Parts: sequence; C-alpha cells; structure tokens
Amino acid sequence: MQNDLRIADHPILDIQKGRQISFQFNSRTITAYKGETIAAAFYASGVRIFSRSFKYHRPRGLFCMAGHCSNCLMRVDGVPNVRVCREPARQGSVVMSQNAWPSLKFDLAALDLAHGGSEIKQAHAQAMEHLAENRPIAD
Ligand code: FES
Repeated sequence: MQNDLRIADHPILDIQKGRQISFQFNSRTITAYKGETIAAAFYASGVRIFSRSFKYHRPRGLFCMAGHCSNCLMRVDGVPNVRVCREPARQGSVVMSQNAWPSLKFDLAALDLAHGGSEIKQAHAQAMEHLAENRPIAD
C-alpha cells in the first residue's frame, strides 16, 4: 500500500479522523476512517482508476465527486452500480470493480478495441473456420 495521501493538517479546516476501519477492494485491504467515503479511502491509498468507459473501456478516474456521473460505479457488498464517491466506507465491506476484466488497470476489452477489435474477431473466425475444415473426421 502507498503512503497515506490524506491531508493531515490544514490551516483553515479542522480535519478530524474517525475510528480506523478496513474493507476489501478486489482482494486488497484498504484502510479508511469512519465517516470517509469509499472513494476518499481509495484515493488516499493511491487508487486512480475507478472504472472503465462503457464503449471503449478507457480508464476513468474521479470526476464530479457528487454522485452525478458514472466514473466511480462499483459493486459494494454485492450491489452493482454504487457510486463510491457518495458511499460511506464500512468495516468489512467487499468492494469490487465492474465492467473491466481482469482488472481496472489492465482491461482486455480496451486492448481489443485499441488494437483493431474487428481484426482480432476476423482472425478468430478464420482460425475457427480452419479448424472446422481440417478437423480429422471421426470414424
Ligand atoms: S465521481 Fe461522479 S458519481 Fe462519483
């Protein structure tokens, strides 16, 4: 885990931390403070990619931080499409990324589209055709 990136001391704001809690994010343990949102805890832990765009699977970070966009949608305790910028962190929660495989950092769907998705599909179709034509016939 990276260093804690939270603001520890501020000349104007009185920053108070609640009790320390932890939850799981894609098999990783994230530390949060009671009262923080899931997104704030992620950001403090160095997480910068929160989702992937629906069409091209481009990485998406926090944008509005007010629950008005779709950049931070995740599955929280089995509930899909939760906006984690508005969702409080809870002890023992399980948070999973969605719309990306195998991970948010490396999404195969983005690779496919970025490198000519139609060419990959065409190569796959040709390989299947070749297999069908050259498959040994069973007696
Ligand atoms: S960052 Fe926009 S809804 Fe969470």
